Amino acid sequence: MIESDVSLKKFNTFGIDVSSRLFSQAENEDHVRNVIQSNAFKTNTSLILGGGSNLLFTKNFDGIVLRNNIHGIEVIEDTKEHVLVKVGGGVVWHDFVLYCIKKGWHGVENLSLIPGNVGASPMQNIGAYGVEIKEVFYELEAIHLKTGEIHYFNNSACKFGYRESIFKNKLKGQYLISRVIYKLSKRANFNISYGAIEKQLETMGIKELSAKSISDAVIAIRQSKLPDPKKIGNSGSFFKNPVVTKSSYDIIRSNFPDVVAYPVGKDLIKLAAGWLIEKAGWKGKTFGNYGVHKNQALVLVNYGGASGREIYDLSEEILDSIKEKFGVQLEREVNIY
Ligand code: EPU
Repeated sequence: MIESDVSLKKFNTFGIDVSSRLFSQAENEDHVRNVIQSNAFKTNTSLILGGGSNLLFTKNFDGIVLRNNIHGIEVIEDTKEHVLVKVGGGVVWHDFVLYCIKKGWHGVENLSLIPGNVGASPMQNIGAYGVEIKEVFYELEAIHLKTGEIHYFNNSACKFGYRESIFKNKLKGQYLISRVIYKLSKRANFNISYGAIEKQLETMGIKELSAKSISDAVIAIRQSKLPDPKKIGNSGSFFKNPVVTKSSYDIIRSNFPDVVAYPVGKDLIKLAAGWLIEKAGWKGKTFGNYGVHKNQALVLVNYGGASGREIYDLSEEILDSIKEKFGVQLEREVNIY
């Protein structure tokens, strides 16, 4: 059940060619428990892997990788208004989105085509085009890696924030998220507040809103801006959009009047990191077989054969240059191993 020296190339969307000294792929909860109670797991550094779409390997993993491959989609409550649906952590996120659209359930259409698996969706509160997972999240089941017990976390227990949850912070490395329960509405309540969606619907000539039409618009936007990880290795946004105080923003704006920014609560402003990186001259820059994507400067790409170290070093250079030019400290969104 535990294999040795397994290539992780096909298990990370950056397509970095590293291997793990030990590796196991869990199909169900019992499988997880067997692995975590093994000597190999107890005596080695461990990494729980989902779709591998939010990490960068900079070296071989000298420990055990446990990949969550738990499947299944099960309706556990069905009313006139909503459904509660329990989904295995190993289900591919976009497959689940398409399933919901087919069933007539609303809430995840704006999150179409986000790479990765269901288990990671609450981990970093995935979000796109005006919607975050916390809006449809009901509860999750997670296996405690020390005891093997299943613990339940409701929405407030997850402490969701922008690309944040308790599983990236206080409880980091302590759980495998085995199943997630979402609450989806049977009534349409569309969110097209994000300008790009409305524009895209117009371009596509779509007059009647539906979960399907919004999903189609989101897919079209993503395909036009973001590289397909099946073709070009990447992990989506490599950096988070930084949040700065109003006074820092005012200074930046006085030097760069076209800075792209959104207010987020009292006295705080979120800056578009993609804009900062583009303005600093990085967009589309290519160094051999890696670089900064030409359509979205937040995305670093591996054109094939780059090492994680090279991409990491590029991200360091970008961090330094943004700090120097704008006085803003960017943070990485991807996890580095
Ligand atoms: N912009 C630029 N240059 C760029 C990229 C963006 O000037 O190269 C400016 C544009 O003016 C644009 C603004 O930044 O109006 C926002 O760009 P975009 O709509 O592409 O969104 P983003 O803030 O760059 C975030 C998420 C994406 C998500 C989109 C859409 C983060 C770190 N990224 O990007 O998420 O798809 O919004 O909601 O929050 C991901 O997390 O992996 C990801 C792709």
